[in-house]
Amino acid sequence: MLIAPSILSADFGHLARDVKAICDGDCDLVHVDVMDGHFVPNLTIGPVVVSAVAAAATKPLDIHLMVENNTFFVDLFAPLQPKYISFHIEEEKHPHRLIQKIRSLGISPAIVLTPHTPPEAVEFLLEDLDMVLLMSVNPGFGGQAFIPSVLEKAKRLKAMIQKINPECLIQVDGGVTDKNIGLLKSAGVDVVVAGSFVYKNPVGVKEAIASLK
Ligand code: DX5
Ligand code: ZN
Repeated sequence: MLIAPSILSADFGHLARDVKAICDGDCDLVHVDVMDGHFVPNLTIGPVVVSAVAAAATKPLDIHLMVENNTFFVDLFAPLQPKYISFHIEEEKHPHRLIQKIRSLGISPAIVLTPHTPPEAVEFLLEDLDMVLLMSVNPGFGGQAFIPSVLEKAKRLKAMIQKINPECLIQVDGGVTDKNIGLLKSAGVDVVVAGSFVYKNPVGVKEAIASLK
């Protein structure tokens, strides 16, 4: 499985240090949570700070948009050339068009589903997607409890992916720990995001990533 630590739980007073720590700890992606204070009740970082993250990172960026105006934010972050940009289907009228736009910018497109959205919502988009992100908490904050219904959702999504586009990855974000990662693997999940488990772990960042692996 691929491990994508979320820098939302990093110490923003030492952001470059904390980004380097996950990269040196052999993470696979650097997960960046962009929140606009409208789609979710929290406000995080924009391109000025994310460019500093990109400069410190030696692993590809995975930008998770939790915003109202997706196209505006895609244009804002595209110059940083992240590996992935993911956007919420609940907040996009024309997801098919936005997927094509992201790909035309040389970035892998991904769609995010909040806990209430069924996997069938992306069925007719799967052939064009590189990843589907299933939220296992309500988007907005780190450190929340894992919602177990995501396991059933991942299994249903995996069956659809195997038929339509076996290359498409399943990512899960929220409340991931060394206790539930095995269940996620069994449900067909390929990539996990982990914020507080990695950054607030007394064993240290490198050891926390190793324990997930
Ligand atoms: C929540 C974010 C997550 C969050 C995960 O909206 O999308 O990426 O940082 O944090 P943990 O792993 O602490 O649940
Ligand atoms: Zn996230």
